Amino acid sequence: MSTGKKPRTSRAKDGAATAPEAAGIPFDHVARNRRRLALITGGNRGLGLESARQLAQAGVDVLLGSRDLEKGTAALTQLGRLPGTVEVVQLDVTNAADIASLVVKLERDYGRLDILINNAGLGYDETEYAQNADVERVRRDFDTNFFGVWRVTEAVLPLMRKRCYGRIVNVSSGCASLATMGCAAAGYRTAKSALNALTRILASELTGTGILVNSICPGWVATDMGGEGGRPIPEGAAGIVWGALLADNGPTGGFFRDRAPLPW
Ligand SMILES: NC(=O)c1ccc[n+]([C@@H]2O[C@H](COP(=O)([O-])OP(=O)(O)OC[C@H]3O[C@@H](n4cnc5c(N)ncnc54)[C@H](OP(=O)(O)O)[C@@H]3O)[C@@H](O)[C@H]2O)c1
Repeated sequence: MSTGKKPRTSRAKDGAATAPEAAGIPFDHVARNRRRLALITGGNRGLGLESARQLAQAGVDVLLGSRDLEKGTAALTQLGRLPGTVEVVQLDVTNAADIASLVVKLERDYGRLDILINNAGLGYDETEYAQNADVERVRRDFDTNFFGVWRVTEAVLPLMRKRCYGRIVNVSSGCASLATMGCAAAGYRTAKSALNALTRILASELTGTGILVNSICPGWVATDMGGEGGRPIPEGAAGIVWGALLADNGPTGGFFRDRAPLPW
């Protein structure tokens, strides 16, 4: 008896349409056995660039988001030859036109997105206290650290839903934990706490879709943001990449550092 429903189809690397369920192949099995495509925001330096290197080393094709195309292209030279491809894309997460162009490109050139690493971030300021912060500046920082993540995620989710597969990593910070909340860097902390809430809400909404959403803290890392004294960038990026490559039965709606749960 026909149900009248079309079988779900997937688009293979060579562009050929397949109907895995019709062929009796579990969809997740198909997802695991083809090359995955990742988008990393703020990929031109620091943890974003190193996450791109580690993912491409693992054979994932990477779109390296950079709000300044020249900076992104220059960063590519630091990566060398890797098993996965790395392509720079213009992406300021606060710019609606950049996000719209990116979605057009994804639909036209790839027809999919498997992994989203919402890494772009700014505004960690240890001298900024809640009692006298410049709220307009806090609003601008929220635009990247929180609304930017929300905008990009909403824009690419239909591509993930179409393939019933997705890994979303929201790069957060232990300093956003309400359980251990301290003072200073007030705007940054509140933006990352809001980001953690978004992680929980999305994970809950997307239960059973094959899309896993987690917040990951890289620890204190010696990037331009983290400064001297932080740990090596590859160590911080390893936790992010773990979240990007989770198996189908991996966690969702969690907050992790070095693969271990953190208190919300
Ligand atoms: N480093 C740490 O200790 C630490 C600890 C906890 C969490 N984190 C988080 O880890 C993530 C990466 O930080 P990082 O340490 O690698 O910092 P970073 O070296 O300062 O790099 C930040 C990246 O974000 C990009 N960016 C900023 N605003 C953007 C926007 N509106 N659109 C697109 N890209 C934008 C920057 O681009 P430009 O080069 O154009 O400025 C840069 O590529 C951030 O979310 C941060 O909050 C870092």
